[in-house]
Amino acid sequence: MAATEDPLPTFPPGFLWGVSTSAHQIEGAASERAPSVWDSFSAEPGRIKDGSTAAVACDHVARYREDVGLVRDLGVDAYRFSVSWPRVLAPGGLDFYDRLVDELCAQGVRPVPTLFHWDLPAALEEAGGWLERDTAARFAEYAATVAARLGDRVAKWITLNEPAEHTLLGHALGEHAPGHKLLFDALPVAHHQLLAHGLAARALRAAGADDIGIANSHGPTWAASDDPADTAAADLYDIILNRLFSDPLLLGQYPDGFGELMPGDDIAADLKVISEDTLDWYGINFYQPTKVGAPGTTDVEFSGLTLPAELPFSVREIAGHPVTDFGWPVVPEALTSLLTGFRDRYGDRLPPLVVTENGCAYEGIDDQDRIAYLDGHIRALHGALTQGVDVRGYFVWSLMDNWEWAEGYTKRFGLVHVDYATQARTPKASYGWLRGALRAQRA
Ligand code: NOJ
Repeated sequence: MAATEDPLPTFPPGFLWGVSTSAHQIEGAASERAPSVWDSFSAEPGRIKDGSTAAVACDHVARYREDVGLVRDLGVDAYRFSVSWPRVLAPGGLDFYDRLVDELCAQGVRPVPTLFHWDLPAALEEAGGWLERDTAARFAEYAATVAARLGDRVAKWITLNEPAEHTLLGHALGEHAPGHKLLFDALPVAHHQLLAHGLAARALRAAGADDIGIANSHGPTWAASDDPADTAAADLYDIILNRLFSDPLLLGQYPDGFGELMPGDDIAADLKVISEDTLDWYGINFYQPTKVGAPGTTDVEFSGLTLPAELPFSVREIAGHPVTDFGWPVVPEALTSLLTGFRDRYGDRLPPLVVTENGCAYEGIDDQDRIAYLDGHIRALHGALTQGVDVRGYFVWSLMDNWEWAEGYTKRFGLVHVDYATQARTPKASYGWLRGALRAQRA
């Protein structure tokens, strides 16, 4: 795969370019925060591919100045990071984010914090975690605490990262922390996270915020064939992974039949909290489309996941496209159709969109494949703009290689290489390419 030689199309003035990371994946300094669900999960044998933990990761808490320097030199406008709720619980834990935000502002980079990127404090998990409604209320209190401290310098907020993946991988399939294998009994986790978004948005508004978003994972679902068994399975998959999270936020309703499955005495009232004045923009994390067909009869190993035979669908390989080191197919045009599909489905109810994550896992410092991936996806994004979709920003996942959850250190998503033995940072070819592309945008 190769990037084209043509310069990238020009994006509108004010379009927000950024890079993303998350706390648990880069920070290290685990002893300076409260325990999180990922600490105990990754300590269990067999959970993480290389047996690693994120206790050190990229040692970012100690090296944040160097890392902010890399963000600045890249020439992006904004840096999306996450605030670790377990660190905020530790005495003095918010001081780190104070310093980080100060450093970003001093270097002319806009801070874009995400308040929850999967690292629930262990104490909350012991009290039931996201299966409990109370966790949503605790989250709103925590959001208020962070906003009171950082709100004078932070304008743009993200409440949650990928509640769909956190529900599916963490609570339905048990492949991520906290490791519950509840299948459809995990649905309350979806509802409580959405409620947490709504309650946190209120808390942020009370603190003066007027630029609130969420980062939801989305991708087009392709039916494996026209056979009604395949199209029905694909539709169900699309509901569970896409519309179950976007419809409540953007339409104030669950897809047909799902509201009844959610916990709580008054779902209609909850849906108001979830949807009314809670989003100034809507963030989309996009990696790949998914091909889905009728359920099989045996468990399937897919992209490092075990998909149990009990699921009412099966995920199939997409042939005919290059794949990343994760085995994910590279299909840039699926980003265009995803974005136009959002515009078509939600119409006037859709706030401006931001691509809050997009990227790929590849080895090597001369990462021409990553350049081709980013080049293709940025062009695909521009294609959606030319078709009238209001997209305001694009964030690459990730600034630097980091601890990729159940894959440990085996997958490298960074524009910057991290040598985990020495913590040396080395910008890859893709970093130089993106810096050049951004300069050209501004020329
Ligand atoms: C989405 C998640 O938000 C992020 O934490 C993860 O590293 C990337 N996808 C890549 O898998």
